[in-house]
Amino acid sequence: MSQQGAAAPRKIIIDTDPGIDDAMAIFFALASPELDVIGLTTVFGNAHVDVCTDNAIRILDIAGRADIPVAQGAGRPLAMPYRGPADFVHGVNGLADVPLPAPSRAPHALDAAHFIIDRVLAAPGEITLVPVGPLTNIALALLLCPELPQHLAGMVIMGGNAFVGGNASPAAEANILNDPEAADLVFGADCPIVMCGLDVTERTIMSSEQIAGIAAIGNPRAQLATQILPYYRDFHLSHGGPDGIHVHDSTCISYLLAPQHYQAVHHPVRVDCGQSVGRGKTWPATRHALSAEGWKARRAVTILTEVDSAAVVALELERLAR
Ligand code: RIB
Ligand code: CA
Repeated sequence: MSQQGAAAPRKIIIDTDPGIDDAMAIFFALASPELDVIGLTTVFGNAHVDVCTDNAIRILDIAGRADIPVAQGAGRPLAMPYRGPADFVHGVNGLADVPLPAPSRAPHALDAAHFIIDRVLAAPGEITLVPVGPLTNIALALLLCPELPQHLAGMVIMGGNAFVGGNASPAAEANILNDPEAADLVFGADCPIVMCGLDVTERTIMSSEQIAGIAAIGNPRAQLATQILPYYRDFHLSHGGPDGIHVHDSTCISYLLAPQHYQAVHHPVRVDCGQSVGRGKTWPATRHALSAEGWKARRAVTILTEVDSAAVVALELERLAR
């Protein structure tokens, strides 16, 4: 994924539904000088969009980054009702129901899609979108500005499941199932796309022992992490998961910082937008990519398939301690 000014920090916009793992990914990005977070845009998903927006501002307050704008986005999918908040995973307030101070400021005047268009067209070729929630805002931006992909450095997306089962249904991963129509449109964008799906995020484990060790880090980001991660760990433990957490959203950040810790394949991707059991499944064209109707006109997506879990978790914890 190219960018202008290789020595300069990579400019990113994180589109997010905070969300416990979203919070960790945002902290990870903010503590990494290789990245320049020029804005957050919020979307429904783990919680209602207004809750996600308040949480995004709270997360920036805790990190001392009142300079970073937060633009609120879609409150529901493109073409179906909102499936409802994943409060059993993230809590009703989206952050483990930990009592938090009120957000310090209001969101940006622009909505998420217009904020993305405004910033990308002002810095052609420089900005990478990092969506870690449902892809509704990204789809809306593409519909409003069809030429947007040619002005993007690319997109690094947490979502989907290429060669493994789903987590929100046997077929589908949560971000995709929350808006399959949006996701199918986004995976067809003509720009470099990296898919950080369950193929690697469910093999990236931050252990309960590592989570407990965060308490020894004396900064506000780590203190919030100490408060919210046990709720997320308990969800994993009670649903047959690891003794720890799957590192979903932070995978996008660790890929941007250290792609050497991943292996990938490259195939065009479609999303099942049907109304049956397969809805939301991401389908790579591993064969007939150039001839298969529905895939042949699409650019190949970089689909992450292998990960050095220990290395990327160590990197995230090192940055959390900065
Ligand atoms: O399936 C994991 C994804 O769904 C993550 O982005 C998590 O925050 C939830 O949004
Ligand atoms: Ca998320």
